[in-house]
Amino acid sequence: MEDSIDVILQDYGRVRPTSRAHPVLTACTAALLTGLYGVWRLFAVPGFRKIPWNLKVPYLPSSKVQTLNIIQLLEGRTGRLADLGSGDGRVVFAASSAGFQCTGFEINSILVACAKSKALWTGVPSSQATFVKKDFWKTDLSTYNNVTAFLAPGVMEVLGEKLLKELPDDARVIACRFPFPDWPQKSSFGSGLDQTFSYDISTVRSHLRNIPKTVPH
Ligand SMILES: C[S@@+](CC[C@H](N)C(=O)[O-])C[C@H]1O[C@@H](n2cnc3c(N)ncnc32)[C@H](O)[C@@H]1O
Repeated sequence: MEDSIDVILQDYGRVRPTSRAHPVLTACTAALLTGLYGVWRLFAVPGFRKIPWNLKVPYLPSSKVQTLNIIQLLEGRTGRLADLGSGDGRVVFAASSAGFQCTGFEINSILVACAKSKALWTGVPSSQATFVKKDFWKTDLSTYNNVTAFLAPGVMEVLGEKLLKELPDDARVIACRFPFPDWPQKSSFGSGLDQTFSYDISTVRSHLRNIPKTVPH
């Protein structure tokens, strides 16, 4: 009985991993997380204060596949295109190379500056791609016959009402990831997080006109 309980406990104490985190490591992790949060806030938050909380949409760049899906769903179309919440301009750049005259509306001034300098750097003329720092909820979209939006599920219904009021009958709307709740889709492309939906405004209008109204008793 050499290995008495005291010896075993002594050995255990020698190899047992200490549960106390190293103070320098903890401080570094905290500093890193604070820094990351600061960078995220810098890109996601400016311009947001004036937007009602239920309509706030943070910045999240669309994937390459999502952007390709948008372009597929715009095939055969021409004219003016509005990207609602244009971020760093990636959808606008893709659509302008497909021949559209694009305007990106973006509330975050840092992202607008980023998109504008990218346009300057890559030599994309303003006749093809323009970026404006503007709240799209306060923008009249009636001169656009193509609209793209990668926003959030909670705003799609309100956005649908706005678009139905303003867009011309021949307009096409592309929604990334989050579909319009009551609109009949023309088609969709991709799957999962990259799924993208297209709608023709004339079809949506006639569909909604034909839905029988329920009369309250
Ligand atoms: C999910 S991100 C999509 C960014 C970009 N369209 C893309 O696909 O990479 C949504 C963008 O909408 C912008 N945004 C949110 N509300 C806005 C508003 N009312 N007016 C203009 N831009 C807005 C955000 O700042 C953010 O950049």
